[in-house]
Amino acid sequence: MLGSGLAGLFFALRVAERRTVTILTKHRRESSNTRWAQGGISAVFGPDDDFDAHVADTLKVGGGLCREDMVRRAVELGPGLVAGLAKEFGVQFDRVSDDADAPFELGREGGHSRRRVVHHRDMTGAEIGRALIEAAERHPNITILEHHDVIDLLSWRKVDGEAGCFGCYALDIARDRVVAFVSPITVLATGGAGKVYRYTSNPHVATGDGIAMAYRIGAEVSNLEFMQFHPTILFHPDAKSFLISEALRGEGGILRRRDGSDLMAGRHPMGSLAPRDVVAREIDAELKRSGQTCVELDMTHLDHDFIVDRFPAIHARCMSLGIDMRRTPIPVVPAAHYTCGGVVVDPWGRTSIPGLMAIGEVAMSGMHGACRLASNSLLEAVVLAHGAAEICDDFGREPPATGRFDLWNEGDAVDSHEAVMVTANWEEVRALMWNYVGIVRSNKRLARARRRLEVLHQEIREYYWHYRVTRDVLELRSIALVGYLMVESALRRRESRGLHFTLDYPELDASMASETVFTRQEGP
Ligand code: SIN
Repeated sequence: MLGSGLAGLFFALRVAERRTVTILTKHRRESSNTRWAQGGISAVFGPDDDFDAHVADTLKVGGGLCREDMVRRAVELGPGLVAGLAKEFGVQFDRVSDDADAPFELGREGGHSRRRVVHHRDMTGAEIGRALIEAAERHPNITILEHHDVIDLLSWRKVDGEAGCFGCYALDIARDRVVAFVSPITVLATGGAGKVYRYTSNPHVATGDGIAMAYRIGAEVSNLEFMQFHPTILFHPDAKSFLISEALRGEGGILRRRDGSDLMAGRHPMGSLAPRDVVAREIDAELKRSGQTCVELDMTHLDHDFIVDRFPAIHARCMSLGIDMRRTPIPVVPAAHYTCGGVVVDPWGRTSIPGLMAIGEVAMSGMHGACRLASNSLLEAVVLAHGAAEICDDFGREPPATGRFDLWNEGDAVDSHEAVMVTANWEEVRALMWNYVGIVRSNKRLARARRRLEVLHQEIREYYWHYRVTRDVLELRSIALVGYLMVESALRRRESRGLHFTLDYPELDASMASETVFTRQEGP
């Protein structure tokens, strides 16, 4: 199991009922995108809500590219799995009263026609992570190994010519050595690739490693042109990519231009609560038009006690930077937030490679299509983890005995004295992705990005083969490859749909309503 967010932990806890699970995680066990999820997890609980409405909202925001079977499965399994997180693992979701069995208090976010976001104040992911980590730590069949950076997946093709995965090579940072982990099933729960972009809401670990590794072993990856930009990241020189949850707009927050006018008035029937692709594009256009550095999220008209009680973490963070959202609007800008594409899987997390599963943000299950509905990500994570745990015993085969596959061989690699190349290329990839492959694209910008990325790839490949591996070079290798695949995917999509908007093809083209799939033969 690679990754320790919601998907990885939930899978591990389920499978540990019958076999042992080793979780490799890149930094500390808490360091995952899950921990940063503020808004919540969507599921049908409201008296005015039903499965058809949640399915319809998801499909509408998904821009014609969702797989309806996956969406329906997730929506229908959602309430049971969410209730199970509370009941079985003790996740403290907010309820309408202090009674332990009281109904969940439901928030609302962009694109949802009903209140259906189950949450723990504005710290839902941190609370889910806390409960599942505690449960995993207590479980005798689960081992968590922190500070293990996976380098590559082990391929059956090199052993007997058949496609398949039987584990991975990982860099054990503490011991500074590479270890081969073998297993009948390898599960990617490595999260998304927000770090491909210079500005992102994601934590440092989100470098797209799982997508890159799966692609290198020959798995199908898809829909990577659909990077979701969250409209409201705190704009402050000391804020370091702090998310201002969409739940604030769900409770009545209004996006305003710097002159105080309502940014979304007349732009979409849902106003400030329009789907993210629409809002992020409007903000981007406003910033370009006005030359301003940010727009503002106005909460000042809402009840002050309610704001502090409902959004304690956001309030505290803003106050620490001198922004009292009860009295002044919050300066915000969009930033890369969620990777809608990823490793292609079926609703049970099976990739195109036997023995390799992918669950959570790393996966492309068809749940999100061309644009993810808010708070459907934690839902997808738990649904895929649940499905993968159900069927994984039949998806792999016993790994080969030691001696039948290559242990890690450093060859002539030496310690690098050129770390500056890693830093410089890291900055360059992220800057060019932000500038040329951002919210608004064009053929010219994409072609420029591709040219630069081809050169960078060559440099990174040479560096990788000449020097001993380090975490930094592994992450650079991931963002460069995933960035390249994003550009290729964007170039292939000659239309505008969901999160992919290009000036050269500004309209939706119904003949392009299909996923953008890549396998290794086609790329670097
Ligand atoms: C948010 O709280 O705005 C983020 C929730 C999400 O990305 O679904």
